[in-house]
Amino acid sequence: MVIKFVHIFVIVCGIAWCKGQECGGELDPEEYSLKNPGYPTEGNMESKYPSNTDCIWTFSGDDNTLFAFKFWDIVIEIGENNSNITCDYDFLNVSVTSVGSQLFCGWVKPEDAIVGVGSVYIHFHSDDSVNFRGFQASYSITTDFDPCDPDPCEDGECGRTEDKLKSLCHCNAGSTGEECEVDIKECDSNPCQNGGSCDEPQKDYYTCQCMPQWMGAHCEVEKGPPCASDPCVNGGICSETEDFDFQCACEDGYIGKSCEIDDFPPCFSNPCQNDGNCTDISNPAAATSDEENEYITRYNGYHCSCPPGYGGTNCDTEVGCGNPGIAYLKKRRRFNTGSILEFSCENGFVLIGPANLTCVADETWSEKMPECVSKYM
Ligand SMILES: *[C@@H]1O[C@H](CO)[C@@H](O)[C@H](O)[C@H]1NC(C)=O
Ligand SMILES: *[C@@H]1O[C@H](CO)[C@@H](O)[C@H](O)[C@H]1NC(C)=O
Ligand SMILES: *[C@@H]1O[C@H](CO)[C@@H](O)[C@H](O)[C@H]1NC(C)=O
Ligand SMILES: *[C@@H]1O[C@H](CO)[C@@H](O)[C@H](O)[C@H]1NC(C)=O
Ligand SMILES: *[C@@H]1O[C@H](CO)[C@@H](O)[C@H](O)[C@H]1NC(C)=O
Repeated sequence: MVIKFVHIFVIVCGIAWCKGQECGGELDPEEYSLKNPGYPTEGNMESKYPSNTDCIWTFSGDDNTLFAFKFWDIVIEIGENNSNITCDYDFLNVSVTSVGSQLFCGWVKPEDAIVGVGSVYIHFHSDDSVNFRGFQASYSITTDFDPCDPDPCEDGECGRTEDKLKSLCHCNAGSTGEECEVDIKECDSNPCQNGGSCDEPQKDYYTCQCMPQWMGAHCEVEKGPPCASDPCVNGGICSETEDFDFQCACEDGYIGKSCEIDDFPPCFSNPCQNDGNCTDISNPAAATSDEENEYITRYNGYHCSCPPGYGGTNCDTEVGCGNPGIAYLKKRRRFNTGSILEFSCENGFVLIGPANLTCVADETWSEKMPECVSKYM
C-alpha cells in the first residue's frame, strides 16, 4: 500500500520544500523542548514533517549526566503490519547510554518518560512517503547527577543500580538493609553450639565462649579426654580436672603444667670435676613468686670451687704447675702459680740443688727438683 505512493512522492520531493530541512545538532541543556522540522505551529496546524529527513541530536555525557525525555505528542508513520515495534518506515530512535535505544512510531504516546544516564543520541528518520505531524517532547539534562551525593549508605559503600539511576549500598560486614542501616546482631541466631555463649564486642565480629569440653569457632568440636594425648612428661602422672583440663603430678625435680621444666639442684649432676666443690645458686625470684602458676625454677645456676691447679667453670681446666716429681704426692696433684715448695733432707742426707721451687707465671717450676744424697756415700 505504501509502495504504491513511492513514485508520486519521489516526484513531489523533487521540489525544494520537500527536501530535508536543517535539523539535529547538539542538545542544549538550557533548552527543554524538541520537535521535528515541520511540526505544526499555531499558524500552520496542518504542517507535516518532510520526507527523506534524518535529524540527529546528541549530547555527550558521562555517569553524572542525567537525561529525561517525555513525549507530549507523537504521530509518525507506523511500521509494516501496523507495528509500532518494527517502525519500518519512519521512526524516532531515542538512545541513552544506560538504558539503550528505543524506537517510536505510530500515535500511542508512552506514558513514562525515558530516563537514563550517559550520552544521548536521538535520531528522527522519515522515508520518502507518508508523512504526519511528527513528535513533540520535552527533555532535561542534568550534568551533576550523583545518586551517592548525599551518600545514603550508613555503613557501606555507595554504588549504583544497573541502570545507574539509583544508589545501591554495598554494606560492610555486620550491616544490612537498603541503606546498611540495620546492624546484624550475629548472636541472635545462636551461632555458638553446645552451650557456648556468644558475645558481639564489635559490629561485625562475634566470638563464642565454649563450655570446657568443646572448642572451635562455634564450639562445634568436641575435645578428647584431656589426658588422652599424654600431656605430662618426665614421668608426671596425668589426671582430669573438673573443668575438663589436665593436671600433672610431677616427679621430684620437675615443675611446669606438663612437668616440662627441669628444677633439679644444678649440683645434683656433679658438674664440678677434679674434686671441685659445687654450690647451688638459688633464684631469689622463686622465693617470692607463686610457683604454682609461674613455674619459676628455684636455682639460677651453680658455682664450682676448684682445688689448686684447676680452674674454669667446671674445674676442668688445668692451671698452674703439676707435681714436679714428689713421690709421696698423688701424681695428678697440682699447684697454683705462686706456690713455693721448700725442700729439706733428713739427717744424714745432703740437699743437692735448690731448696725452694716456685710455680712461676708461665706455669712451670722455677728450678729442677733437688735430691737428697747420703753424706756417707
Ligand atoms: C505482515 O503480515 C503479513 C501477512 O500476515 C506477513 O506475511 C508479513 O511477513 C508480515 N510482515 C512483517 C514484517 O512481520
Ligand atoms: C538507534 O540508535 C542506536 C544508538 O545509536 C543504534 O545502535 C540503533 O541501531 C538505532 N536503531 C535504529 C533502528 O536505527
Ligand atoms: C504500541 O501499540 C500498542 C497498541 O496500540 C500500544 O499499547 C503501545 O503503547 C504502543 N507502544 C508504543 C511504544 O507506542
Ligand atoms: C671441699 O669441701 C671440703 C669439705 O668442706 C673441703 O675439705 C675441701 O677443701 C673443699 N675443696 C675445695 C677445692 O674447696
Ligand atoms: C726459701 O723460702 C723460705 C720461706 O719461704 C725462706 O725463708 C728461705 O730463705 C728460702 N730459701 C732460699 C734458698 O731462697
